[in-house]
Amino acid sequence: MSFSISFDHTDRIKPALTEASFVQESWKKFLQTINSDEIGFFHVNLRKELLHSCMEIYEKFQSRTHFIQVGIGGSSLGPEMLVSALGNNKRNFTFINNIDAEKLHDQLSQIEPQKALFYFVSKSGGTAETNACLAIICQWLKDKGIEEKDFKNYFVFATDPVKSDFLELSKKWGVTCLEVPSNVGGRFSVLTPVGLLPALFAGINTTELLEGAQESKKFLLNTDLNENILIQSAQYLLSLNEEGFNQTVLMPYSSRLRDLSFWFVQLWAESLGKKTQEGKSVGLTPVPAYGATDQHSQVQLFMEGPPDKVCLMLEIEKPAHDFSLANDLETGSLQKLSPYNLSQLMKAEFNGTLKALSEAQRPYMHLTIDGLDPHHMGQMILYFESLTALVGLMLNINPFDQPGVEAGKRFAFEWLYLVEKNGPKG
Ligand code: PA5
Repeated sequence: MSFSISFDHTDRIKPALTEASFVQESWKKFLQTINSDEIGFFHVNLRKELLHSCMEIYEKFQSRTHFIQVGIGGSSLGPEMLVSALGNNKRNFTFINNIDAEKLHDQLSQIEPQKALFYFVSKSGGTAETNACLAIICQWLKDKGIEEKDFKNYFVFATDPVKSDFLELSKKWGVTCLEVPSNVGGRFSVLTPVGLLPALFAGINTTELLEGAQESKKFLLNTDLNENILIQSAQYLLSLNEEGFNQTVLMPYSSRLRDLSFWFVQLWAESLGKKTQEGKSVGLTPVPAYGATDQHSQVQLFMEGPPDKVCLMLEIEKPAHDFSLANDLETGSLQKLSPYNLSQLMKAEFNGTLKALSEAQRPYMHLTIDGLDPHHMGQMILYFESLTALVGLMLNINPFDQPGVEAGKRFAFEWLYLVEKNGPKG
């Protein structure tokens, strides 16, 4: 089982970032953070009771063939990533992750209540988008003859166990409420019930997922700091950031990992786009991509556009399925493909792009996983979460808060109150 990383042009790493005292200090901050009571993402895989609570729900509702997750941001992106990367496609999944009336109308029209389980996820329990969808779904069920006293047969909640509006509702309706640990932020919560319950319904081996995360700690916590992959990654990205390469492209060569890129976008953007204590704005801008498809789209920009992007190129060494390209079609371009398999073509395109990036002096990191399975997924999740935390600490910001998002939420509610008071023009 391996997950490996190599770097193009390590000579670009800035001496200041490899200086022993800076590295020691950053590492000390990282260890203090991940071992503190306030920040729980790094060890949450060890909280076995969280998985057990999800298994109980799964046992109870496993006859349901349609799983609907209602949540936004970290309450949806991680689960979407898991289901699309590893799901067995035996159940229908719907993610209600927006307040787009047209989309919601389409989504609800596909749902038969008797076959459905609605999973409402909100760590705070106070997110307007999620609560709006909850209100609509309650009314939609009532219109279908399902009474409030029976919501417990259709709903499961996940929220902060200490402070959340969902706690009151779940008590009132007798709906089971799973825990989103208070010390695990939304975008770091995929290995909690937020992602574990949908993973079970998608047929994903959650034990292997959590074991993969545990296994990755061996290399993430490598005490030889000169060889530590996490520190090397952070040094590489921050060195390039200083040269103006301030955008981070994540480009897995896999359709099933397309949502990994979108999960990474939130993790990276919401954690690192901040003001330092001195008031300086910092951040690395994430760019989602996937290969080979984006070779016919964004890659031109990566090669010849502004020199501001570092590409994290991810390949799957041994895909679970393959196809022969052998054919007796006469056309030259088809004939050329005939001796190969589809996975060889993918590998050729991946390596071709690496070479072209290198020649164009465009920096990249080369990430490889043996196969797309729960174990490697667990490893990658903890690697990206840890990298985000370490880069944030090295940038001297708090990677775990989101004051900008909170401000937007507050102003939206203020606007609604004004509408109520003064009519539609506010
Ligand atoms: O990472 C975060 O904390 C946020 O993006 C949240 O996931 C998002 O705002 C949704 O919040 P909640 O789960 O409280 O509804």
